[in-house]
Amino acid sequence: MKLAERMAQIQPSPTLSINTKAKALRAAGVDVINFGVGEPDFDTPEHIRQAGIDAINEGFTRYTAVGGIDELKDAIVAKFESGYGLSFGRNEIVVSCGAKHSLYNLAQILFDPGDEVLIPSPYWVSYPDIVRLAGATPVIVATQETDGFKLRPEVLEEAITEKSKALILNSPSNPTGSMYSKEELEGIASVVLQRRLLVVSDDIYYKILFGDQPWVNLAMLGEDLKRHTIIVNGVSKTYAMTGWRIGYLAAPPEVAAAVTRVQSQSTSNPTSIAQKAALAALTGPQDCVEVMVAEFEKRLNHMVQRLEAISGVSVIKPSGTFYVFANFSSYFGCSYNGQSIHGSIDLATYLMDKAHLAVVPGVAFGEDSCLRFSFATSMSQIDQGLDRLSEALAHLS
Ligand SMILES: Cc1ncc(COP(=O)(O)O)c(C=O)c1O
Repeated sequence: MKLAERMAQIQPSPTLSINTKAKALRAAGVDVINFGVGEPDFDTPEHIRQAGIDAINEGFTRYTAVGGIDELKDAIVAKFESGYGLSFGRNEIVVSCGAKHSLYNLAQILFDPGDEVLIPSPYWVSYPDIVRLAGATPVIVATQETDGFKLRPEVLEEAITEKSKALILNSPSNPTGSMYSKEELEGIASVVLQRRLLVVSDDIYYKILFGDQPWVNLAMLGEDLKRHTIIVNGVSKTYAMTGWRIGYLAAPPEVAAAVTRVQSQSTSNPTSIAQKAALAALTGPQDCVEVMVAEFEKRLNHMVQRLEAISGVSVIKPSGTFYVFANFSSYFGCSYNGQSIHGSIDLATYLMDKAHLAVVPGVAFGEDSCLRFSFATSMSQIDQGLDRLSEALAHLS
């Protein structure tokens, strides 16, 4: 069957493909260690699960308002107030089926063919394709490892053309774990205001933070910046709720209304039961988040220490997320049994084939020098996986 032409531009998500390959090998009885995972390895906390069960038992199983129930919107408004110090009205909030869906909806209502959308690299794998699916052009803006893979204002300035419509920012970032400081954001803010850019801020990891650096969003820098920023967030990562599919955005009323209109002709409301669970997540006790983040931090420290001990590997210690993005380019040009390793895909394939270790090649995020390691797995798996990594690398010459 002939598919629509736009399909020629769209790739399946490489992170999901790695997971599929790892799962297939596991199903075939191979002991694969999976560092490719993009979700917390914790169960959704009990009180949140119970809220979903209660919703079913109480018959809360019908269509809801397209953009989410009022109670949930109010809880999101309260979260923006407490977490960001920003005030929004109910009419500025839209709940969707995951942050990815919020981003997709936004691209559909904001971007026209010919519009350019600036995406700093390394970037989350879905941004370019979400932009392409709207018919617009992703413009990848390279950042440097020496800058912690963060965008410098002058580099942003240089990438802007008359066609530039928006910039997508993600802090802390998947895959690098880097997080912008207030001062760094102020530099970006001045370019954004001067060049009248719209910013889509993807804050999905904003609660998974390590160390003392305070988390800041561009919209928190002033009323004028709030007007230029659309915030996307969700419950997937913070509350180990990836399968429930609840994300949300805060945007000016006309943008929120347009997103709701698009959603009304595609998915309709996000699942009623999941909305009740998300409500419990946002309004209930938050110690479950602290427990999860504390465990992630232990694993992070261990993983970074072990990666840094491997010769030829450089690591920028993440400020947040559950990923480490490590530079392995010193191994490019090496070979094993006559097969050369030319880049991150070759190295990830070698690790999968020889060590049964799943990692995501950096090229999937627009940065070929690196591999992404997720530490959303147990400490013993981390240790075994890093043993296998060191051994496999030692066989390269
Ligand atoms: C940077 C980033 N944004 C958005 C998402 C999607 O989140 P959700 O599960 O809420 O759709 C992910 C998931 O991996 C992510 O890493």
